[in-house]
Amino acid sequence: MSTFEPSAFWHPFADMSAVAGNDLVIASGQGAHVTTEDGRSFLDATAALWYCNVGHGRAEIGDAVMRQMSSIAAYSNFGDMATRVTLDLADRLSALAPMDDAKVFFTSGGSDAVDTAVKIVRRYWSLQGHPARTTIITRERSYHGMHMAGTSLAGIAANRDGYGPLDAGVATVPWDDADALAATIDELGPDHVAAFFCEPVIGAGGVYPPPEGYLSAARAVCRERGVLFVADEVISGYGRTGRMFASEGLDPDLVLTAKGLTSGYLPMGAVLVAGSVARPFWETPGFVWRHGYTYSGHASAAAAAMANLDILESEGLIDRVAGLELALTAALIDLRSHEWVVDVRSGTGLLGAVQIDPEVLAADATAMPRVIGGLRERGVLTRGLADGSLQVSPSFVVTRDELNVLSAAIDGALVAAGSTRPASRPADDARDVLPEITSDEAGGFGSSDERLLADVPPHHGS
Ligand SMILES: Cc1ncc(COP(=O)(O)O)c(C=O)c1O
Repeated sequence: MSTFEPSAFWHPFADMSAVAGNDLVIASGQGAHVTTEDGRSFLDATAALWYCNVGHGRAEIGDAVMRQMSSIAAYSNFGDMATRVTLDLADRLSALAPMDDAKVFFTSGGSDAVDTAVKIVRRYWSLQGHPARTTIITRERSYHGMHMAGTSLAGIAANRDGYGPLDAGVATVPWDDADALAATIDELGPDHVAAFFCEPVIGAGGVYPPPEGYLSAARAVCRERGVLFVADEVISGYGRTGRMFASEGLDPDLVLTAKGLTSGYLPMGAVLVAGSVARPFWETPGFVWRHGYTYSGHASAAAAAMANLDILESEGLIDRVAGLELALTAALIDLRSHEWVVDVRSGTGLLGAVQIDPEVLAADATAMPRVIGGLRERGVLTRGLADGSLQVSPSFVVTRDELNVLSAAIDGALVAAGSTRPASRPADDARDVLPEITSDEAGGFGSSDERLLADVPPHHGS
């Protein structure tokens, strides 16, 4: 981190009083690693913001985008107009979608997808002659982006604060209790509920995999009451859990995607809509759904998505994620012996979190920044999530050795920040059931840069 004249750049989710002039400027990336402008190399433990699934530096995506831009970069897709790559991508996503006869509405990112979905479900019910079905149910801990719809749906309470009245037609349920969902719908009256929004694995709220049986039970609750089931797969979509979609088998009504659609090479989102829900929009003569974004179906972004999906398929990266799931657990599990660690969550592909004790974080506001700073000293880039856990969501090309490097760096950063642990890391029972993993914990992740020893990053609001 260098201190220099602040630029005018207003960072998202940042304490600008601390960040201004202290930007960590990322200059390049290759695979699961990035390099800063001043030449430091980091293992990217988060795949940027959960999106760079195929890894950094994929020239073939750049080439595909350049080819598209050389013919036509983009054109309006409003009304009857289209670009060929947009049509092709829609058909490809429809074939991949975990529901029948999916139609695809493109957006510029995940928050747009959430906004679009809220409008689709309410409009669907009004077209079906049930205009009172407007309430959206969301879960505690959930994150559904930052537009006003997503802000209203935020299960992370701090993300709702300070904006005056938000959408009043929102009800919140516990994140892990399908019976509570049923009770809430029954209390509101099913005839007033449009949809249930659900991240199959809660992401920004702290990486909470669904309790055993929760998703299918919640799906059944919705089906029995005629409530639409919306899977927000902005993080989990396109392979992060070791399956193309985490809602496979649930027959969701809508699936919201973004991030991994292009691995972030260009911004794009897509709402996959079951044919049965799309039908009134598609088959009502004279009806125009007055919704869409300037960049809905942007041709160059669509070209990036096609090339990204080609890589996922040709390199078998989703199988690779499934194969690394246990290795991630094996790498992280011993961290539970740390005084400051109250939980380690994993078991859903390449999604994990190391939960720091909330009491430690409440007692010492520098604890999390010091841990993050210690990780940077050890060559690992990650961040704290809303509940005070460390995010672990590397790109799909990460190796087993790199997962062990990551774990060793977390261990070292925790010790340096003041957390104690048994002198030798315990042979945890759970390890016995895990397959052999290779390790290069002997080295390779440290940094000898003296300047980093005092490098505590400014607090990024989490
Ligand atoms: C589950 C979920 N939904 C929606 C969003 C919003 O996506 P975007 O930041 O692209 O607007 C995110 C972003 O992290 C997300 O994790």
